[in-house]
Amino acid sequence: MNYFPVRAICLLFLVDLVFPKQVCSKQDVLEYLNLTSNNEKFTTCRPALDWRRPTVVYFDIYLYGILSMIEKSQTFVPLIWMSMSWNNERISWDPKDFCGIKSVILPRQMLWKPDLYVLETAEKEDGPLNPYLYITHNGTVTMEDDHKIVSTCSMNVHKFPFDTQTCHITVSSINYSDKEIKLVPASNSSKVTQVARESILTQGEWEFLNISVSLKNESYEDQTFDRIKYTISVRRMPLMHFINFQLPILFFLTLDLASFFIPDEGEKLGFKVTVLLGISVLLLILNDILPSKSHRCPLIAVYVIVIFSFMLLSLLETVLVIYLINMNSEQDAKGVQRPEDHNSDTDNRKRDRNGVEAPFETLMLKEIYSKEKTNDVQLLQLILEELQIIRQTLDPDTLKAKTAQIYWLGIAKCINRVFFVVYLISVSLFLVFIFREWKAE
Ligand SMILES: *[C@@H]1O[C@H](CO)[C@@H](O)[C@H](O)[C@H]1NC(C)=O
Ligand SMILES: *[C@@H]1O[C@H](CO)[C@@H](O)[C@H](O)[C@H]1NC(C)=O
Ligand SMILES: *[C@@H]1O[C@H](CO)[C@@H](O)[C@H](O)[C@H]1NC(C)=O
Ligand SMILES: *[C@@H]1O[C@H](CO)[C@@H](O)[C@H](O)[C@H]1NC(C)=O
Ligand SMILES: *[C@@H]1O[C@H](CO)[C@@H](O)[C@H](O)[C@H]1NC(C)=O
Ligand SMILES: *[C@@H]1O[C@H](CO)[C@@H](O)[C@H](O)[C@H]1NC(C)=O
Repeated sequence: MNYFPVRAICLLFLVDLVFPKQVCSKQDVLEYLNLTSNNEKFTTCRPALDWRRPTVVYFDIYLYGILSMIEKSQTFVPLIWMSMSWNNERISWDPKDFCGIKSVILPRQMLWKPDLYVLETAEKEDGPLNPYLYITHNGTVTMEDDHKIVSTCSMNVHKFPFDTQTCHITVSSINYSDKEIKLVPASNSSKVTQVARESILTQGEWEFLNISVSLKNESYEDQTFDRIKYTISVRRMPLMHFINFQLPILFFLTLDLASFFIPDEGEKLGFKVTVLLGISVLLLILNDILPSKSHRCPLIAVYVIVIFSFMLLSLLETVLVIYLINMNSEQDAKGVQRPEDHNSDTDNRKRDRNGVEAPFETLMLKEIYSKEKTNDVQLLQLILEELQIIRQTLDPDTLKAKTAQIYWLGIAKCINRVFFVVYLISVSLFLVFIFREWKAE
């Protein structure tokens, strides 16, 4: 009898009708939506069933790092997490039919995406993008990406290194006018700023201040395009630049001031030249930092150049003073040089140049001590020589030369003193002025 199997089949059929087979996998959702990888309906066109209805794209950014800001090339490299979401009218399902499935993660290439990009981009990114997007049962599609944006930013280095910079990140669609894609910032300025403050990981030498968001539209060939503009303000932390650059220059300036207390003869000139060379090495560092073109002359350049000129002036003053002293001792030497003047001549000139006369007694005693072993004749000869020198000193010609020497020395000293006072005052005034200018808002 083949009666039993027929009943069994009928029963199974009945069960199937009363309790339909549960579809609980996400693949079932995609099958229900007819969403397969070669479905052009989903990938080519904007997902609006009526083309007159624009697709509203909610856009949001989270700033989570400032990698660098390069003054020389005027680039700004922030790390930004971008999120955009829009409604796809072709996608909708009832979670009740699919065991409560409310969202599905899909490969990116299976759906249409808005063609948003950053206008300031200076370099194409080559990092991997997030390959997935996220759909929900009511048709919301969300796409999130992690970007390292190398963007142009016109930086104003007038107040370097005490400067605040503002850079812009402008987001817009290239191909869709505002009739097709309507951009809406998902969070306002205070929200974006707060989120960035909480999530910022690295900011290098910069301190993040705030982000402001504004929505604009721009006309281009009788179409208008929506643009969201994020303005990011950052302030430079000046400590390292101050230590590396401004402080050493102040040190050099102090050394230059201190060199006024070195006697004019000998090392003073060499010392000043060395200090001047030290500053010119620091100028090379500046060349690495600052862009060659800027709107206003950077204050730091004024600072270096003015201090450099001050030091140059003080070097020239030293040269002048040494010239005055030397001119005078040459005159002196000429006056002293006479035929009868022989072996003691060089000794004499040396003493004159020093401008200080060793007392004869000490000199003679020293010479006598050093020549203890010499006999009386030699001793007498020595005394004769010293007497000759005394005669020369009392000679009217020599006396005149001496007066001239004292006169020129006095002038040199006076120049030195007046120059030092003027120099100190102008340097202090300049420093006060430049640091006030730096601190001014
Ligand atoms: C999927 O395609 C089938 C036939 O091709 C059609 O009957 C069904 O309505 C489509 N489903 C959706 C959600 O469009
Ligand atoms: C879609 O559903 C999500 C929650 O799942 C909700 O937040 C969102 O507002 C809904 N969107 C629309 C267009 O109804
Ligand atoms: C979108 O614009 C870009 C740049 O203008 C162009 O290369 C591309 O072909 C456009 N795409 C479409 C779909 O019009
Ligand atoms: C910004 O948005 C937050 C919520 O996201 C709201 O509480 C706040 O009032 C908004 N601020 C302004 C200025 O609109
Ligand atoms: C952001 O900071 C800059 C610089 O301090 C300031 O000028 C600007 O007003 C601030 N913007 C907002 C929205 O707070
Ligand atoms: C462009 O923006 C202005 C306000 O900024 C607004 O009045 C105007 O309607 C916008 N134009 C279009 C075509 O949306």
